[in-house]
Amino acid sequence: MRIQLHPGLEFSRLVHGYWRLAEWNLSDQQLLTLIHDNLEMGITTVDHADIYGDYSCEGLFGGALKLEPALRDKLEIVTKCGIKLISDKFPERKLKHYDYSVDHIVQSVEQSLRNLATDRIDLLLLHRPSPFFDPQEVVKAFDQLKTQGKVLFFGVSNFTARQFEMLQAYWDGPLVTNQLEISPYCLDSFLNGSLDFLQKEDIKPMAWSPLGGGKIFNPTDTKGARLLEALNKVGHELQCPLSQVIYQWILKHPARILPVIGSGKSNRIKEAVAALALEMTLEQWFEIYEASLGWQLP
Ligand SMILES: NC(=O)c1ccc[n+]([C@@H]2O[C@H](COP(=O)([O-])OP(=O)(O)OC[C@H]3O[C@@H](n4cnc5c(N)ncnc54)[C@H](OP(=O)(O)O)[C@@H]3O)[C@@H](O)[C@H]2O)c1
Repeated sequence: MRIQLHPGLEFSRLVHGYWRLAEWNLSDQQLLTLIHDNLEMGITTVDHADIYGDYSCEGLFGGALKLEPALRDKLEIVTKCGIKLISDKFPERKLKHYDYSVDHIVQSVEQSLRNLATDRIDLLLLHRPSPFFDPQEVVKAFDQLKTQGKVLFFGVSNFTARQFEMLQAYWDGPLVTNQLEISPYCLDSFLNGSLDFLQKEDIKPMAWSPLGGGKIFNPTDTKGARLLEALNKVGHELQCPLSQVIYQWILKHPARILPVIGSGKSNRIKEAVAALALEMTLEQWFEIYEASLGWQLP
């Protein structure tokens, strides 16, 4: 299933995220096989960031792409910039911080292009809002990268509605998404106006950690325990695995959210794809929402 984020930019409804790629211990050939398997299931969009795996994941992905460069044209590549981590690779850094200067944005993208073995990024996201943010500076970097054809579209991640509007007021082009933490465990976007704003603007959100980073399956607090009980009940009613209940809960929402799958295991990715064909009732949706919230709606 495909979804248009903007004229000229179509994503697969399910995106594969590569934050954990370094933990999967795959050879280039095994990763290439995984990318092929995903393509066969209709997952063409991949989510990266410069910093994933201590700056290693983009390069691992590029290593697989170099084995079959023609694959690049079958993919939409998302990556991010703006966070500067403490890392052996940058011994001069003393403190983790955010940097949205023209120089840093442009250098970060140029490094991502080399790592990912590509000449263009389909969508560049600003990874997190910064308390030290100059939209005029950011827009200069966007202009340069767009004119050079190095980045085709821009968006943000973890921005509030007001931060989104502020940047959009300076940028002539579209900001095509806001990638947010959205799961039955993390309801923030439902409660803080983020989803309302994106729906008003007809902008499709991407959902990171749709399974709560795995913690929904092993709850450590009473909220998690309540949620797991409700998910198990709905899973029993729908006769499907828990992960499918969770994906369907996100997919059913009218904001047309794109979940970013975090597992590297083929069977779990297949489960996510099967959730596209599920039908949850509205009552089941609310049962899960209320279990997470901890009270019944008035
Ligand atoms: N924009 C941002 O700030 C931001 C932040 C975080 C992540 N992201 C993006 O979002 C993507 C997804 O995030 P995520 O990895 O946290 O997603 P997730 O799907 O919520 O969590 C993935 C984790 O859950 C585990 N898991 C999956 N199915 C399971 C099951 N049935 N039982 C137990 N554990 C299970 C996985 O283990 P296995 O690997 O063993 O299956 C993996 O450790 C990332 O790859 C990244 O691209 C973006």
